Parts: sequence; structure tokens; C-alpha cells
Amino acid sequence: MTPLSAPWIELAEVDSTNAELRRRAERDPLGPGTVVVAASQTAGRGRLGRSWYSPPGLGLYLSVLLRPEGAPDLAPRLTLVGALAVCTTCRDLHGVDAGIKWPNDVLAAGRKIAGILAEARAVGARAGDLVLGVGVNANHTPKDFPEALRERATSLRAASGHIVDIAELGKEIVTRVVRWAAEVDEGKWLDVAARYADLTRGIDGSAVRVSAPGVAARCGVSRGIDERGGLVVRFDDGAESAIRVGDAVEFLA
Ligand code: BTN
Repeated sequence: MTPLSAPWIELAEVDSTNAELRRRAERDPLGPGTVVVAASQTAGRGRLGRSWYSPPGLGLYLSVLLRPEGAPDLAPRLTLVGALAVCTTCRDLHGVDAGIKWPNDVLAAGRKIAGILAEARAVGARAGDLVLGVGVNANHTPKDFPEALRERATSLRAASGHIVDIAELGKEIVTRVVRWAAEVDEGKWLDVAARYADLTRGIDGSAVRVSAPGVAARCGVSRGIDERGGLVVRFDDGAESAIRVGDAVEFLA
């Protein structure tokens, strides 16, 4: 399959491109690489139950259907693939010094420029269809962000100094996602993970705090990425375990 030969569905407005692609995939037999992209979202979703601010015309709001090989517990690797695709596109196409914060945040000058939300639905022992959602703050000026986000968010336009072609940005990101997802399927996870690690701050040797609802936060030191895309942490009590995509991790240094 050439990456962009699958259907590319463009909408003016939708609740969430992730929700819309899932609905369509349950209704029709859609192939991997199918994309839903919208000019705005009324209920854009973020990780950990957060929302994603999606005003009309300013951002890229896109979801791509993937059908990863292997067991469901390997699917979170695609979140890292998404972050890698967005980060490298920001760097290569727009000259922005973007980096990744494990697992899914793309940052420029310490502020969030993009996020990835992978939503999988296992089919027995297989990962099944995975919807990979990509949200990029493209052409926002600082005043376009609500007050609560202004200190923490930035856009490609603010970071690069030029107006961004959102359609071109989407095509480039999807091309990279499909290419690296195929490499992962071909057994090249270690190569993809190494590229990811090169652009990711603090995954080896940083102090981290891991929290989960109803459980005391635990502190430790990061030790790299494992075969399932998890963040390996040596905790202060000496135990070592991997934190999974979906957990809340704060990098302290
Ligand atoms: C995050 O950083 O919390 C993830 C944000 C993901 C936002 C994108 S926008 C397109 C797609 N549709 C959604 O509802 N969410 C993702």
C-alpha cells in the first residue's frame, strides 16, 4: 500500500476525528492508512481524559487507521511512532527545534506544540484496528489560546515564524506514521525506538515521579524505552519496572 492511496476523508467539523474514524471503521471495511481530518472539533479528546482545544482552521486535527501486527500489548508503540512522525516533520519541514516528552507530547521551547492519542480495540489475541489521533497547534498566535493554555502551549507558526500549510503538514505526518508503523511490523522496533530516543528528553537518567489515581506517587530515575514502548524506571526503593503509555509521569529534571 502506498501511504496516501487509502481514503482521505475531510470534514469541516466533527466531535472528534478519533471518534469519527472509529465509527466509520465499525460501519465499513476501511483499509489501514484511512484518514479522517477536520477543520475543527467540538469534543477533541486528549490523553488521560483531557480535552483537546480544536478551534476552526488553526490546528491540524487528524486520525489515521492502523492495523498493527502482533499482540495488543505491543500497540502502545504506535503512540511513540506518532510522536516521532510529528516531531521530525516539525524539524525537517519547518526548522523548529522540536523534541518529545515520553510518550506523546511534542514540545518546542518547553511548550506543547502537538499531542498524540492512540485508541486501540483488541480483536482476540491481535491488536485489531488502532486509531492514531494527531493534534498539532499549527497557526495559533498566543492570543488564540485560552488563558489556561497560554503559558504551556505554542504553535508551529510561533516557533517557526511562518504560516503553516496545514494540509501539507497532515500529508507529511501521515506518510511518516505509515512508514514507521510498517517498519515496526517488519521487526525494526529497535531502529524506530532509537530514533525516538534521540529526540526524547529525559528518558535515560532523568528523575521522574509516577502517579496514578488513588495510589501514592513514586519517584525514581528513567532508564530508557522497552519493547512495548514503556518507560523503564528504577524506583528509589530499588525496584525496576516499566511505566506504560496511559500512566501519568512527570519528568523532574
Ligand atoms: C494529548 O496530548 O493529550 C493528545 C491529544 C490528541 C488530540 C488529537 S486531535 C485529533 C484526534 N482527535 C481527537 O479527539 N484527539 C486527537
